[in-house]
Amino acid sequence: ARRSFLQAAAGSLVLGLARAQGPSFPEPKVVRSQGGLLSLKLSATPTPLALAGQRATLLTYGGSFPGPTLRVRPRDTVRLTLENRLPEPTNLHWHGLPISPKVDDPFLEIPPGESWTYEFAVPKELAGTFWYHPHLHGRVAPQLFAGLLGALVVESSLDAIPELREAEEHLLVLKDLALQGGRPAPHTPMDWMNGKEGDLVLVNGALRPTLVAQKATLRLRLLNASNARYYRLALQDHPLYLIAADGGFLEEPLEVSELLLAPGERAEVLVRLRKEGRFLLQALPYDRGAMGMMDMGGMAHAMPQGPSRPETLLYLIAPKNPKPLPLPKALSPFPTLPAPVVTRRLVLTEDMMAARFFINGQVFDHRRVDLKGQAQTVEVWEVENQGDMDHPFHLHVHPFQVLSVGGRPFPYRAWKDVVNLKAGEVARLLVPLREKGRTVFHCHIVEHEDRGMMGVLEVG
Ligand code: C2O
Ligand code: CU
Repeated sequence: ARRSFLQAAAGSLVLGLARAQGPSFPEPKVVRSQGGLLSLKLSATPTPLALAGQRATLLTYGGSFPGPTLRVRPRDTVRLTLENRLPEPTNLHWHGLPISPKVDDPFLEIPPGESWTYEFAVPKELAGTFWYHPHLHGRVAPQLFAGLLGALVVESSLDAIPELREAEEHLLVLKDLALQGGRPAPHTPMDWMNGKEGDLVLVNGALRPTLVAQKATLRLRLLNASNARYYRLALQDHPLYLIAADGGFLEEPLEVSELLLAPGERAEVLVRLRKEGRFLLQALPYDRGAMGMMDMGGMAHAMPQGPSRPETLLYLIAPKNPKPLPLPKALSPFPTLPAPVVTRRLVLTEDMMAARFFINGQVFDHRRVDLKGQAQTVEVWEVENQGDMDHPFHLHVHPFQVLSVGGRPFPYRAWKDVVNLKAGEVARLLVPLREKGRTVFHCHIVEHEDRGMMGVLEVG
């Protein structure tokens, strides 16, 4: 795998040099809290934009793609009024935040022309890279695909340690897109089965931008905001040092040669540039079990699509004579959780041809409660993928610790809210139930969520 990556990298390097250098690296606009309050009015609205050299009308939050990055600190108040200027209902989900489901309500519907104000306090001791996107069942996939998303960064006192403070920080929102007639391409029946991918694989809305690093140590916050595309990330000639997962820091940096980011997942990595030059950040081929239709003697047959093509995401230019910072030795100790009171089993299955997706044999019904738990208790969830595709399993409101996936112990302890399951795998999760109320768990290939792979958790 290493060899084929290097060959692929060498190939695209030649291609890249022959072509003019890509656009410069754009960073989404940042809105910060001031005096403990982040107060913002945001419209969800169709917006004409210049995108990868084309004109296109996306759906955006506040006129930009991606939407603004909200930067807050623990205990800050967020007061966000969402104005729905779409021709259809929508709502917002605060992905990864352990806040009350009365605020982060996946069942709320904001009709066209109306507004809704979300107000909550950022939990104390929270840190990490989160995001917001629509969550109206049945409409999530087209709305997210069309551009409705933004990041939310919760800063931490750990950001002040020299090994992090002196690094150059960037946010990379990974989001693919397909355009048709100047608009996001509509979903085909195949898209509802596989989850929709686009041929434009964008970083912060730009196609293969160039990031000219000023410093030799970079801290990259990565967000996979794509409907269904997986990113098996690798940086040419450099390992990555994983320092944070979905919902916060690891206990110590973990060196990896590549990092898989499934839909909905986030990570923070340190990059330590050790020589001058231009390095490719790539998404290596990954097989998530998606199906394609093949015409065999006049009959349509479903056939595995096989691995994705490698994609260059970003050109990274190292500064002159780079001298990276030392790595932080320790990050954030993970708490020891109380003993679990119950073990649950959730089985994911597919009816591919009908594009219906199930948890424990049922499609989502907002009137049905699938699991009942008690606040302040810890549960073990065993999630089993009995389908043929990968499914990234996501739980709202209650971040968890991953114990094992596919029988292998998970490589680190940190708060997660998405865990990827390949076909046949079981994930074991330790889930502390935090906030009372009704919320949901689902597959974060959002087409699968829209087509049934979601359940209701009620915590009393
Ligand atoms: Cu980011 Cu329920 O999802
Ligand atoms: Cu799925």
